[in-house]
Amino acid sequence: MQIIETSRLILRELTPSDADALARILSEPETMRYYPAPLDCAKVEEWIARQIRRYAVDGHGLWAMILKSNRELVGDCGLTVQEVEGTKEIEIGYHVRRDLWGQGLATEAARACRDLGFALRSVDRLISLIHPENLPSRRVAEKNGMTVEKEILWHDLRHLVYSVRRNRSPQK
Ligand SMILES: CC(C)(COP(=O)(O)OP(=O)(O)OC[C@H]1O[C@@H](n2cnc3c(N)ncnc32)[C@H](O)[C@@H]1OP(=O)(O)O)[C@@H](O)C(=O)NCCC(=O)NCCS
Repeated sequence: MQIIETSRLILRELTPSDADALARILSEPETMRYYPAPLDCAKVEEWIARQIRRYAVDGHGLWAMILKSNRELVGDCGLTVQEVEGTKEIEIGYHVRRDLWGQGLATEAARACRDLGFALRSVDRLISLIHPENLPSRRVAEKNGMTVEKEILWHDLRHLVYSVRRNRSPQK
């Protein structure tokens, strides 16, 4: 099911048949540098199954990022429920295939997810949880209008909590 269309991208629900294309992204070591480990095929299948459960339970999750020009799956981006220090928050997350970094694709998708998140959910804020050394991801959050709130330990790893409030204009 298609969720969002931007100038270069379509975000649609992931399906089990996306496993090979998604594995090209999530099993790449540099892409998964700030995760415990790159994902093997079984873990990619679990990742997709987790998003499909999220679509059913929460109405959203990480969606497949499809490049309109060639219909390829080039990443994921979306809205996930995360528990942060005992509070449920909605996180904007993103991963882009490494050969396409630096073209603004994550920012384009993240901004659309921010707008959809505020339209879908009666929340005052959306967050992104980012390792302090993950400078590209921090930059995407900043371009998405987010600022750093605090540093926390999340799943035993240092993370900055970036947040944006409803109606705050994004940085260009
Ligand atoms: C984070 C990620 C999704 C960004 O994707 P992308 O499509 O390249 O992002 P964009 O092109 O929209 O923006 C990247 C920005 O980071 C900047 N950047 C890249 N490397 C940087 C560095 N070492 N230091 C500072 N800024 C950097 C780029 O210049 C760009 O900013 P600009 O538009 O002001 O020039 C991609 O790097 C990725 O998949 N990383 C691995 C997965 C990951 O860490 N996801 C986030 C988990 S919190």
